[in-house]
Amino acid sequence: MPHQLVIVLDFGGQYNQLIARRVRECNVYCEVKPYTTPLEELKALHPIGIIFTGGPNSVYDPKSPHYTPEIFELGVPVLGICYGCQLMAHTLGGLVTAAQDDSAREYGKTVTYYDTSCKLFKGLPEEGISWMSHSDYMAKVPEGFGLVAHSAACPNVAIADEERGFYGVQFHPEVNHTENGLQMLRNFLYEVCHAAGDWTMGDYCKTAIATLREKIGDGKVLLALSGGVDSSVAAALLAEAVGDQLTCVFVDHGLMRLDEGDEVEAAFSKWNINLIRMNEEERFLTALKGVTEPERKRKIIGEQFIRVFEKVGKQIGTVDYLAQGTIYPDVIESGTGDAAVIKSHHNVGGLPDFVDFKEIVEPLRMLFKDEVRQLGRELGLPDYLVMRQPFPGPGLGIRIIGEVTKEKADILREADAIFREEIAKAGLENQMNQYFAVLTNMRSVGVMGDGRTYDYTLALRSVTTSDFMTADWARIPYEVLDKVSVRIVNEVKNINRIVYDITSKPPATIEWE
Ligand code: XMP
Repeated sequence: MPHQLVIVLDFGGQYNQLIARRVRECNVYCEVKPYTTPLEELKALHPIGIIFTGGPNSVYDPKSPHYTPEIFELGVPVLGICYGCQLMAHTLGGLVTAAQDDSAREYGKTVTYYDTSCKLFKGLPEEGISWMSHSDYMAKVPEGFGLVAHSAACPNVAIADEERGFYGVQFHPEVNHTENGLQMLRNFLYEVCHAAGDWTMGDYCKTAIATLREKIGDGKVLLALSGGVDSSVAAALLAEAVGDQLTCVFVDHGLMRLDEGDEVEAAFSKWNINLIRMNEEERFLTALKGVTEPERKRKIIGEQFIRVFEKVGKQIGTVDYLAQGTIYPDVIESGTGDAAVIKSHHNVGGLPDFVDFKEIVEPLRMLFKDEVRQLGRELGLPDYLVMRQPFPGPGLGIRIIGEVTKEKADILREADAIFREEIAKAGLENQMNQYFAVLTNMRSVGVMGDGRTYDYTLALRSVTTSDFMTADWARIPYEVLDKVSVRIVNEVKNINRIVYDITSKPPATIEWE
């Protein structure tokens, strides 16, 4: 059964993905479409509601993104957010101008007063904080609209034409700083668009399995399994859908965390799929011998992955489908961004160059990360896979500073496992987004018992971040750091000093190499 759909029409604001995620959190399926999507295409999707996002422009700037006024003739409710609100007002005959004085320009947390007889604010307190960031002002609201929220500086923080189902808010209900923002979106979806709330992971899972079965038929599918969340969930979904028609290739480069390879294997043992585990530690370590420069290490590891896949590819021959764990944020963002290469990221993505295949399948293409995790749980994957923090493709190879050797990898594995264990014991797992140990290439003098030691310094790294582009170092309580430190120096040979990395990104990066 197809799901009801809400369209998030993207005018280039910074919170567009967030709006879409919030809508889905309300159990309503939505898709982000660029404002250049023709009306006919939107119409054909039969949306139950449309949300105009914010955007960086002023509506009276001739170069700013607009949309055909006919969108307001579809009989579909529209919610305009920030720029989206001004665009709606502008298009429907209102007047939007630059705020004359600073007092009408609003940024940040603003006390806002709501008319709770308006459907958008139904059931909410009459006063609350909202998150504003606009410098334009609606001097005249369009005909048919009433004012439904105001602040000290601005009489028309929100406007509504309840008869036609058009609503506009100058603030951002999708960000957490707006009190009850999620409830406002929920009101728009349920009170105005009459959503049925038919987007649940359980249902999605069943539908996705049926769709994959139909598409794949009796074809053969190949997937490169990294052990990360996305490829693991894609594998589980395909395993459930087509069983032994699926072949997964998992390359253990010897630079995995403690027991990781076995955990991945165990998680998939309940399905009757062909899981090819390539234990290639020796190959990778030999190729890395004597190499100390980070970018060279990454290139070498990337190249060796390809060599391994070539080898497996020859055994497998032709497949019908190549599966990839692409997720929705990658889809929304693809083609944008032109950032400088700080590190040449290596991902165990696809194998297109050396395996013949007819088509690519991307079963997670429309899901956000939190939905992917939910789906993984639905499919019975263990929490240690579903909640796994990001782990770089080159693995411990870039967490061992300087030359990579088996001895160093073993030391780091043990220390890293202790760090992760203590974080879990302290119940801090969800308060940081990535945490790991780094084996520095530095040795220093210590004392153990009555003797002098000259051993490695281990660094602990833990960050909080929402996008991994910027990050702050996590404020781990001293007692926890102390426990980790005491345990590591006592339990792991060749480490006699522990330091905690207190730099944010930028200027540092999350990984050390
Ligand atoms: P940096 O160190 O650039 O890391 O601040 C940002 C995020 O990317 C991860 N990372 C990688 N992931 N292949 C990956 O799949 C890589 O080569 C790679 N290098 C860094 C890093 O763990 C962090 O989550």
